[in-house]
Amino acid sequence: MAVAAAASLAVCSSSLLLRLHPSSIVRLSFSFPAPFCTTPRVRMAQTVTRATLGLTKPVPVDIPQIAFSAKESDFLEWKGDILAVAVSEKDMSKDEDSKFKNPILKKLDSQLGGLLGEASAEEDFTGKAGQSTILRLRDLGFRRLGLIGLGQCMPSTATTTYRGLGEGVAAAAKAAQASNVAIVLASSEGLSEDSKLNAASAIASGTVLGIYEDSRFKSESKKPLLKSVDIIGLGAGPKLENKLKYAGEVCSGVILGKELVNAPPNVLTPGVLADEASKIASTYNDVLTANILNVDQCKELKMGSYLGVAAASENPPHFIHICYKPPNGQVKAKLAIVGKGLTFDSGGYNLKTGPGCLIELMKFDMGGSAAALGAAKAIGQIKPPGVEVHFIVAACENMISGTGMRPGDIITASNGKTIEVNNTDAEGRLTLADALVYACNQGVEKIVDLATLTGACIVALGPSIAGVFTPSDDLANEISAASNITGEKFWRMPLEESYWESMKSGVADMVNTGGRQGGAITAALFLKQFVDEKVQWLHIDMAGPVWNDKKRTATGFGVSTLVEWVLKNSSS
Ligand code: BES
Ligand code: MN
Ligand code: ZN
Repeated sequence: MAVAAAASLAVCSSSLLLRLHPSSIVRLSFSFPAPFCTTPRVRMAQTVTRATLGLTKPVPVDIPQIAFSAKESDFLEWKGDILAVAVSEKDMSKDEDSKFKNPILKKLDSQLGGLLGEASAEEDFTGKAGQSTILRLRDLGFRRLGLIGLGQCMPSTATTTYRGLGEGVAAAAKAAQASNVAIVLASSEGLSEDSKLNAASAIASGTVLGIYEDSRFKSESKKPLLKSVDIIGLGAGPKLENKLKYAGEVCSGVILGKELVNAPPNVLTPGVLADEASKIASTYNDVLTANILNVDQCKELKMGSYLGVAAASENPPHFIHICYKPPNGQVKAKLAIVGKGLTFDSGGYNLKTGPGCLIELMKFDMGGSAAALGAAKAIGQIKPPGVEVHFIVAACENMISGTGMRPGDIITASNGKTIEVNNTDAEGRLTLADALVYACNQGVEKIVDLATLTGACIVALGPSIAGVFTPSDDLANEISAASNITGEKFWRMPLEESYWESMKSGVADMVNTGGRQGGAITAALFLKQFVDEKVQWLHIDMAGPVWNDKKRTATGFGVSTLVEWVLKNSSS
């Protein structure tokens, strides 16, 4: 089965092998971002090429190349490194004789002479989500038996549960240096065909993303060893094949999103971000085209708001526009995805100071653009019919210098509206203003924008939930339906018009910040000033979920939900 375009140009190529049943091997070749390969670029965005500050040269990472096979064989016959059994809390219950009630666990336990029951009791393994226990074995076809907890295993959170299972398997495989693993669910009989497809694809995504480690900026790194995963008991055949192929394509977008956010701001400048966008477009040039505007072109379009933010930086701004058109004409829906692309946010003259301001993490302020570009990469491979998508990023850096924007300056956006900048740290909305005007000019019916826009949204929803702001109930429902499939967390917030009061200026059409109260809402109301009333628009504040503090890494948030949203709007 022929799949996606092979890597071209300077791209560090990699592939995800999905072996579905013995007769058909699906090789998913996708090219991984060469964010930081030092080989020649498709086009040099910057006229002057400076050596990277600090001399950092990222080393391209080996992307997990894992062959997934879906099988319907007897798990006891399986031979390999780890047999991982996924168990819910309910599966762990025992009968009067202290034997497992679950037939699969019962069979395994008797094969092991009661070892399974003993070990799980000793280690207090109860099947909770995130729990796992591994037994070293001698006389069976597999060297290790793993129990991976699924928790309560509720249908409403199935994606998250099975992704967690994949992550658990990845962790076990890393710890045991396993190269092949089989996964079997202790209870899969009750699942419908659709649930089995979704479970298999979530397990595959969780495994790939769990195995993947971004070590591009480490001087030493471990190579991932896991080569094959057999998923037993969730079916086999072409439907499952397609589902796994789709999962691989979305994962490649999520990994790109993570890599873009993880890259430090001395390496990932606005010019390099634009080069990455061009590379995505040229890799999938049957459906994608890229147009990158320089400062002069942005001036011609009167993008004073965006250029005001960019004015202090030595690294010039680059306005990115990727367009997806389906392979055979016919477009029924036109969409735009707009991402905030601040490769670094110092705050400007309203410098980010003091503990908790997170200035050292402000490389993640291009998380919205990373989600947009990650989605573009996935869509370039999936090629959904009947839908046109514009991916738009006003990329720049918010710095300080004599040429920079001052607090008190009045700037003029490309729709003619004037803004009194009462805080240079509310820069994201200024860049998005011109990007939204540009998006509306593409004749789209719907716009979703994503931005690490406000600390206030983190205060409101915490670190793992994104805020959704939109006047459109329909669009809110579309994103909600998409997120139910992907498991990413969103919560709709009010667009309270009466709060606009605090955004009034004595001298210009508006200021760029209201007070401290309702900060995520006033930011969304600001964006609304730049969207045509005829266009359906939805804003996602992803300041919290862009970053995983515990794991000290980017999450790739937004990519999978955006892809799902585009598919919902396609005619597939
Ligand atoms: N990029 C920040 C938002 C942010 C802050 C994201 C902390 C993640 C963590 C944004 O540009 C910003 O600085 N917003 C200000 C707005 C304020 C000046 C009205 C904020 O949230 O403090
Ligand atoms: Mn800021
Ligand atoms: Zn910012």
